[in-house]
Amino acid sequence: MTRTQAPANVALGARALGRVLCDAAVPRLASEGREISIELDGQTLPARQGEPVACSLIAAGEPLFARSVKYHRPRGPYCFAAACSSCLMRVDGVPNVFTCRTEATQGMRLERQNAFPSARLDVFAATDWFFPGGMNHHELLAGVPIAQDVMAVVARKLAGLGRLPDHEGPEREPAVVSRVEVAVVGGGVSGLAASQALLERGVEHLVLDRESFAGGRAAYGVPESEGETAPLPSPRLRLLHNVVGLFEDAGGRFLAVLAGERLHQLYVGKLLVAMGSHPALPAFGNNDLPGIYAARAVSRMIRRHQVLPGKRIACVGDATEAAALARLVTASGGEAVAVGAEPVAGHGLNAVSALTVRRGGSEEKVDCDAVALCVSGSPAFELARQGGARVVFDGARFVVEADADGRTAHPAVFVAGEQQGPCSLAESAARGRRAAMALSRGAP
Ligand code: FES
Repeated sequence: MTRTQAPANVALGARALGRVLCDAAVPRLASEGREISIELDGQTLPARQGEPVACSLIAAGEPLFARSVKYHRPRGPYCFAAACSSCLMRVDGVPNVFTCRTEATQGMRLERQNAFPSARLDVFAATDWFFPGGMNHHELLAGVPIAQDVMAVVARKLAGLGRLPDHEGPEREPAVVSRVEVAVVGGGVSGLAASQALLERGVEHLVLDRESFAGGRAAYGVPESEGETAPLPSPRLRLLHNVVGLFEDAGGRFLAVLAGERLHQLYVGKLLVAMGSHPALPAFGNNDLPGIYAARAVSRMIRRHQVLPGKRIACVGDATEAAALARLVTASGGEAVAVGAEPVAGHGLNAVSALTVRRGGSEEKVDCDAVALCVSGSPAFELARQGGARVVFDGARFVVEADADGRTAHPAVFVAGEQQGPCSLAESAARGRRAAMALSRGAP
């Protein structure tokens, strides 16, 4: 995902001087979960046991998580789906931890990375100001005696991310080896509809999902409409099973699956990939400011974690989705502004404080403390592609090339749901069912 640097970024000079934004805690919608405390750069903050610690920080009014590699621009979570790397922090002495995927625990120590002397006041942010057109740090002063050695040290400071862990990692147990006829990756409406069809046909299978809950976007996305498709239950669903890749050895093709700290080596006959999409990021000035989120990240914080990420949220982009998100924000006690407008530029020092939007040919600057971008996602095609499926550009995004039944270029790899491009929940379920039926014809 590419975050866009504003060509004439008036905030940069002020940021380089380290002016501090006055953050404010945002409303919690319920008091679920045991109240605990965590530490951010030595400061004690409240949190709820078990929620993503990124949510704890946002609820505590701390949307600034780190500085970016090289240009040291402020960073904060964007996707809440382990897809953007903008929420990485040092957690309990371990660098580069996805805080959107890490549960808060009592006494957890969080440190903002990649900043000197601090993320709020980072002198290396001057790099962003000095090189508005970009900088190739590999070649800067190369060939100039002494200066090139000094530059090598500076470049490491600019381009490195995190420090080595405080402690060695724990010993790993050997992988658990098992085999299944069909693996469905993704426990959203599509994967669960596929499971239902496979159960009806007596096909041995497992459904693997990295989340702690079933249903995918039906459970956390922007609500589509009244009476939207509910996910079907499946006895074959395995939650908190994160598929990290597809490999092959003498025993055949296997999925590498992380379940907690344990690695599983799951040999599969056929694969149905229903992993949905990654939140996309439209290009506009300062689109990388902390406080700018994917729409699904905002709905996820509200629906799953009872945190409203701002009091005044600009719900911009696709008009239908923005209107639905605005209803959710308003029903949760927030104020939705600039609903359905086109984002032009973000404003703020260490977090967004306003957004310029375009509507009907005119532009206006709207005050807000969060922005939700309603844009269709990019298919999460990595696993299907690793399995041999072809990925093509459909004019708007890269999608997995497949027929109406989810057949791909590889005879043992099928896809469903948003792998072939954006679709409603009902269509997603229908695609899952069709792919399962096609796949089970002549199952190995
Ligand atoms: S990777 Fe955590 S917010 Fe995107």
